[in-house]
Amino acid sequence: MEQFVIQGGQKLHGELSVNGAKNHVLKLIPAAFLFDGPITIHNVPQVEDVFRLLEIVEQIGGTVNRDNRTVTITPPEHFDGKLSTELVPKLRASLVLIGPLLARYGRVELPSPGGDKIGRRPLNFFVDSFRALGAQVTERDEMYDFRGKKGLRGCEIFLPRITVTGTETIMMAAVLAEGVTVIKNAACEPEVVALGEFLMAQGAKISGIGTHTVTIEGGKLLTGGEVKVIPDRIEAGSFAMLAAATGSDLTITNCRPDHLELPLQMMMQMGVKLETTPDSIHVYGSRGDLEPIEVVTHEYPGFPTDLQSPMTILLTQASGTSHVRETIFEGRLFYTDELNRMGAKISLLDPYRILVDGPMELIGKTLTTPDLRAGIAMLIAGLIAKGTTTIQNIYHIDRGYERIEERLAAIGADITRIRG
Ligand code: EPU
Repeated sequence: MEQFVIQGGQKLHGELSVNGAKNHVLKLIPAAFLFDGPITIHNVPQVEDVFRLLEIVEQIGGTVNRDNRTVTITPPEHFDGKLSTELVPKLRASLVLIGPLLARYGRVELPSPGGDKIGRRPLNFFVDSFRALGAQVTERDEMYDFRGKKGLRGCEIFLPRITVTGTETIMMAAVLAEGVTVIKNAACEPEVVALGEFLMAQGAKISGIGTHTVTIEGGKLLTGGEVKVIPDRIEAGSFAMLAAATGSDLTITNCRPDHLELPLQMMMQMGVKLETTPDSIHVYGSRGDLEPIEVVTHEYPGFPTDLQSPMTILLTQASGTSHVRETIFEGRLFYTDELNRMGAKISLLDPYRILVDGPMELIGKTLTTPDLRAGIAMLIAGLIAKGTTTIQNIYHIDRGYERIEERLAAIGADITRIRG
């Protein structure tokens, strides 16, 4: 198993360029099954989740041509409905395939999808929505079988709570379903909007994208086209928090600060000095004491759950007690135990709330990351800690952050990948 070994305490300096958004491309790849010919996706990040999903596309019978950051996918004529029992559990986002595959080929059988250890992540909204669209869904021995040979029919779906992949999956199924589908309480995350805008540019009849009510008039395959993956707002936000936590002067380029309004505003409220242009964020190296704050994760445009862990590292450096409330996932604060072993003072009040006391000096330790975002937080903790930090299980970090050690080493970090 590979590990990162980090010597903490270095100030970083320079420029970090942001890659394409993992959570956008992971939906564009399934969208390929809505087309009657190839689609070409540009600015594809080279991360493990993308590699896994492309393997699944090939297992389905799709053709995948890769040329650096450009991927062209051609859907197959036929698909027998069976998804890989080996690959699907490695990737929660493989769920998104259900929409286009079921609507186009009439059947999808898949094992319960995997992903992060961030708490219970049920499929009930997917199952209920596809039943409403006319599919038969059965679940046995951890296998789900979605059947809709007679085709899906548009209907009105009220999602019990806002779900990103739920909204995207149903929207894609609705593009091929007969008639009109209305998704109420739909997600408005920038990745959902970017997916909808691409489908609309290729002829899909969608209105209300970016609001909580999305209407789709479906019925026929789209004609192939090209799309560019939007910048990863979570990578950009992680880098801004990394810069602030390490007191580094960094310019984060190729990003969309307008997708990060609240996190950046909260960092400034803490006392971080930063400036933005439409496509960059400059974090200034010198700063005074940081103020504690209250962070509550929320659907977009609220504070993203995916930035909760890097923000928590920054809060360990603020003077006083900060309060963090995670409202999206129930198991997403347990990594803080590992930070306490490094000298942080974080009290878990319940599965949804922590108190973070600071400023605390962190000491290098050997840590194991349970998921992607906890992994980047541990990496930032390692960069500010005294001594050596070793992070195990870094496959999780590679799932969403491309060659992170090379990019950080280029701006002065002492970080090495050890191949075990
Ligand atoms: N939920 C249900 N039933 C369902 C679906 C969702 O109860 O059938 C619940 C979830 O358990 C959760 C809430 O609804 O409590 C919202 O979760 P959502 O469905 O929005 O999450 P997701 O679509 O599975 C995506 C991102 C996550 C990101 C969340 C929230 C992708 C591939 N994943 O997950 O990204 O945290 O939205 O913004 O888009 C990450 O990149 O590290 C990551 C976990």
